[in-house]
Amino acid sequence: MAKVGDYEIRRCEREDVRTVIDINMETLPEHYSDYFYYEILAEFPETFLVAEFDGAIVGYVMCRIEYGFSHLRKLGLARKGHVVSIAVKEQHRGKGVGTMLMKASQDAMTQKAATESYLEVRVTNNDAIALYQRLGYAVTSRLEAYYKDGEAALVMASKIGQ
Ligand code: ACO
Ligand code: ZN
Repeated sequence: MAKVGDYEIRRCEREDVRTVIDINMETLPEHYSDYFYYEILAEFPETFLVAEFDGAIVGYVMCRIEYGFSHLRKLGLARKGHVVSIAVKEQHRGKGVGTMLMKASQDAMTQKAATESYLEVRVTNNDAIALYQRLGYAVTSRLEAYYKDGEAALVMASKIGQ
């Protein structure tokens, strides 16, 4: 699908989900049931991607295509790519893998006719926020006490395609 140095971005397969769950467990406080991952993969296989290094999965991005109110145009409806979760294993960060996963998922969302992409991120997650900003995402709202521990989320969105 795409290559950055020795990293390859490709679609997630069913047999990769176990590793994706393990990476989520070690990198993020937000966890989901195993069923949730398999469901997203079954329904949105085009936008569930992994990064591979030396035959091992070191990162993933899991997205959903939704239809609803635009985050970018007042009162408009839009087909949106929702970045549900993205993570890169710690030893592999700062090498452009997260950026490549985001770009590849946006390309895939565009192919599924989405015109914008959005996500929620912890207000204190500076690395992730900086990455999204570099890719053109802007904060569109703030959700107080969004996370279980009471932390607020920023909703960030970007136009995608063309
Ligand atoms: N060589 C060296 N550095 C690079 C390269 C490169 N080729 N490309 C980019 N960089 C730099 C960037 O400039 C950036 O630097 P800065 O943020 O210090 O200015 C930094 O590396 C990060 O960019 P990437 O390497 O593309 O991103 P990374 O692979 O490190 O992944 C991520 C970013 C996913 C946020 C990672 O930090 C992570 O897994 N964090 C924990 C999980 C997490 O917080 N996920 C997001 C939650 S929100 C949600 O899921 C919607
Ligand atoms: Zn979300």
